Amino acid sequence: MKKYNSIFKTILFTVFVLTFCHASAQTKSEEAKMNTYVASLMGKMTLEEKIGQLNLVTSGVATTGAVVNKGVEESIKKGDIGGIFGVYGTNYISKAQELAVKNSRLHIPLIFGLDVIHGHKTIFPIPLGMSASWDLGLIEQSARIAAKEATAEGLNWVFSPMVDIARDPRWGRMSEGAGEDPWYGSQVAKALVKGYQGKSMKDADAVMACVKHFALYGGAEAGREYNTVDMSLIKMYQDYLPPYKAAVDAGAGSFMSSFNTINGVPATGNQWLLTDLLRKQWGFKGFVVSDYTALNELTNHGLGDLQTVSALALKAGLDMDMVGEGFLTTLKKSLKEGKVSLADIDLACRRVLEAKYKLGLFDNPYKSINPDREKQDVFTDDNRKFARQIAEHSFVLLKNKAQTLPLQKSGTIALVGPLADNHSEMLGTWVVAGDPAKSVSVLEGIKNVVGNNVNILYARGSNITDDSLLNARSWFYGMQQIKDSRPAQEMIDEAVETAKKADVVVAVVGESANMSGESSSRSDINIPESQRDLLKALAKTGKPLVIVLFNGRPLTLTWEDTHAGAILDVWAPGTEAGNAIADVLFGNYNPSGKITATFPRSVGQIPIYYNHKNTGRPFDGKGPAKFKSDYIDISNDALYPFGYGLSYTTFKYSGIKLNKTALKGNETLKATVTVTNTGKYAGEEVVQLYISDPVASISRSVTELKGFQKITLQPGESKDVTFNITTKELEFYNNRLVYDWEPGEFIVQIGTNSSDTRTASVQWLK
Ligand code: BGC
Repeated sequence: MKKYNSIFKTILFTVFVLTFCHASAQTKSEEAKMNTYVASLMGKMTLEEKIGQLNLVTSGVATTGAVVNKGVEESIKKGDIGGIFGVYGTNYISKAQELAVKNSRLHIPLIFGLDVIHGHKTIFPIPLGMSASWDLGLIEQSARIAAKEATAEGLNWVFSPMVDIARDPRWGRMSEGAGEDPWYGSQVAKALVKGYQGKSMKDADAVMACVKHFALYGGAEAGREYNTVDMSLIKMYQDYLPPYKAAVDAGAGSFMSSFNTINGVPATGNQWLLTDLLRKQWGFKGFVVSDYTALNELTNHGLGDLQTVSALALKAGLDMDMVGEGFLTTLKKSLKEGKVSLADIDLACRRVLEAKYKLGLFDNPYKSINPDREKQDVFTDDNRKFARQIAEHSFVLLKNKAQTLPLQKSGTIALVGPLADNHSEMLGTWVVAGDPAKSVSVLEGIKNVVGNNVNILYARGSNITDDSLLNARSWFYGMQQIKDSRPAQEMIDEAVETAKKADVVVAVVGESANMSGESSSRSDINIPESQRDLLKALAKTGKPLVIVLFNGRPLTLTWEDTHAGAILDVWAPGTEAGNAIADVLFGNYNPSGKITATFPRSVGQIPIYYNHKNTGRPFDGKGPAKFKSDYIDISNDALYPFGYGLSYTTFKYSGIKLNKTALKGNETLKATVTVTNTGKYAGEEVVQLYISDPVASISRSVTELKGFQKITLQPGESKDVTFNITTKELEFYNNRLVYDWEPGEFIVQIGTNSSDTRTASVQWLK
């Protein structure tokens, strides 16, 4: 038997080697074909045409800066443009592509990009919300559907995923990422790249991903937008860089450089970042585009005039200039003056052309131009069904005192709050093509789900904000807050009267779509005051109070936590908002989301994150304690820790069973817990694995997420959940930035969130 086993293994191994060799030979010959094609094309190109490929313009549909490009049509014909972004629709895109392919001298096709961040026409929850689903399959599927819809509208490039780690909820763009954890952020990054790029970027329904913002944009000082980043190398490598690296490993075709400086050198002109790290260390083969006018902004950073910074950025490894035309207008002069070489320009041009080749645009520049698909494949019933499903999975039940939720499908509810009967705020930040008018409001969703079985009384209760500064800065592009002109007190009184007539109050409150996202940093991360006044008045009625919370970041919710019966965090849920919310409120779906960013008690605790260091004087939570690492006016711990989220049912964890407690080298540790559903509802639980390394050559984080499994359990059902742990999970960057593990004791923790785990200790030697 043993002999057959070994023959079988040899055959398997040979098949594996042959398949691998065949695949890698195929990749090599593909690459050789591409090199020949691009070299021959470049052989025909003038200097001007090469520089033209480095120029990305917008014709102004969706812009995030003051400058937009003029004379786009003429520039296409001249070969002065490599790509266009901020546009969509086969009508526009086919015309622009035709101009390039028929009217430019070398017929080089354009790439067409857009900020497709959480869906294209069918809008899914904001990325921070999607990440709270802990369902990588759904997350990948969201990108696949977005790619299908985007390509159906002529696009071939999306400015997504945003993989910036963020630990400061004052920063508005936390909404666009997957939260604070490097390991989890890496899994989400991979899933999104796979979803966008599909099986092959050549396919008509695949787009090229653009990973942003490289790098460390989420580390902005004080959470203030575009602000300085100063960070130790260990922290960068350990905590902030992994998701970008994961996206490279997943084959992402392009990267976007960020606005911020990194230890004094702006990312967009940072040779260490764009060349040494990204290309030489990580082996990235695609191209790098700047963020919106980020090249020009190097001047404000103090690096010189436009010609100087353009030369510097090109040499640093930037290949394409978004909007600012710095490359277009200065590189020729810089070449003459010896400030850049032809090889520098050629390198960037080759990378852009290679991207077009990988997208299959030289074979068929119109591969995604298909008006039938534009009609059939966009905003379909199936896509909306999926939007409802992923929205439900993204919601996090933050609080549920005495089973306030789920609601009965009978009786009377008072539905109040400025976000309850509202379409314009359902989609969240960064929605270019989605139509808010086609989203489902909460009021509509509740009617759809419970029909006439529930008596719904509605009162608006307050405006989103009455703060004139917040109001002026939160609505862009001519959008406006939908305001009720009645005095605040009158609206509150009406809501209180409505509440008194009901069995339960559902208050739909929180941030508007544009209170988070780009250029939306906040110093106060409470629910806006007008709505808190409403909540306080509602709480006084003594009726059970359910808060349905819209937010693009963790908010400070200490008052709400004390006074509400239940808090359901729905982020900004997208097109199917109301239906998904109603499904969860009435128990058609049992919430299973868990937060991927810590919710602080107070803005003063920020930055706050679960995987912090211990300090030399750690505070054990038992006060008062002088000369410990704590605050004298607030506890250290979060209001809701990373990984936290409740369910309508309850789960019990057994202790951890280990297959061994002493290991050597590349052995595998199997850590198992039994999880039992001890409540009345079927439910899903995200079982999380953390590991800590108490003694090492550097001070390690108190614990780190290393795995998770999402399981479904019927009432009374138990399941064993086993994690296979190898030394891969023990590795970290040491003082010399070597990624390795060090022998000794490790504490395995498995549990329901980062601060509620079972623990077991093992010794692991080399
Ligand atoms: C943002 C990017 C975005 C770009 C193009 C910038 O302001 O930082 O995330 O992709 O605009 O719209």
